[in-house]
Amino acid sequence: MQDQDIEPGTTARFATAKRIIRQAGVMAKDYFDRYDELEIETKSGRQDVVSVADRDVEDFIRREIIASFPLDGLIGEERGADATETDYTWTIDPIDGTAVFLHGLKSWCVAIAILKEGVPVAGLVYDPCADDLFSAATGHGAERNGRPIAVDSQTPFDGGFLVVGASKPEQSHHIGQLIEGILAAGGIFMRNGSAALTLAHVAAGHYLGYYEPRLSSWDCLAGLLIVREAGGLADDFLSGRDIMASGPAFAAAPQVHDQFKALTLRGT
Ligand code: IPD
Ligand code: CA
Ligand code: CA
Repeated sequence: MQDQDIEPGTTARFATAKRIIRQAGVMAKDYFDRYDELEIETKSGRQDVVSVADRDVEDFIRREIIASFPLDGLIGEERGADATETDYTWTIDPIDGTAVFLHGLKSWCVAIAILKEGVPVAGLVYDPCADDLFSAATGHGAERNGRPIAVDSQTPFDGGFLVVGASKPEQSHHIGQLIEGILAAGGIFMRNGSAALTLAHVAAGHYLGYYEPRLSSWDCLAGLLIVREAGGLADDFLSGRDIMASGPAFAAAPQVHDQFKALTLRGT
């Protein structure tokens, strides 16, 4: 895909985002290489953690965006929302998978989505440990490190992996029912601790689908767009929902969509 094919305002931002997210990933990886020296702080509970790495990486991303596009709105997990009544808005998750990051596991990433007039137009997910940059702009396909990727549209439900995310005690019954249903249908469930990276891996054909009952826009907008551009089916996270509100995220390869979707409705 040639970036020049996209609408000019999006083209410029998409190119800038590719540079910024790789630089942010290098910065995050420097912290990860000494994760066991970082002071772990808790937010809403003992599983909801954060460290200086999340804040510094988000601050870096914000500074870089503002330097190129000073009027754009920014929504980041750690620093909140600025000036969102603008044409372009960026969502930023400086480290998606903070908990696994702080436990020394490599399945975390940096995630950025770009919205034009409230509609996602580009998504980027960078995995610094693998040096994989997953990216997509609406209508132009999905890529990993500049090469096209596609969902696995062949493997049946009982031949691949479905990923289920959850992080709240009140989700236990629903998630229990869902996992029971996946296993009873011959499927396998997985979880790697990063919604954004999982969605990128659905787009690349490694997983067949992903569901989590409660995510935020910065967790999933980039990945959902990348899945869609890779030929998958992804729910419109923002349909009927404010960008600051949390809600369910769902994406799947076409051949497993209906079966997986039906299972995610159990116990809700
Ligand atoms: C979390 C991750 C995790 C998901 C949580 C998210 P964070 O984001 O995406 O996979 O289960 O719901 O909050 O806190 O690591 O940025
Ligand atoms: Ca996140
Ligand atoms: Ca985060």
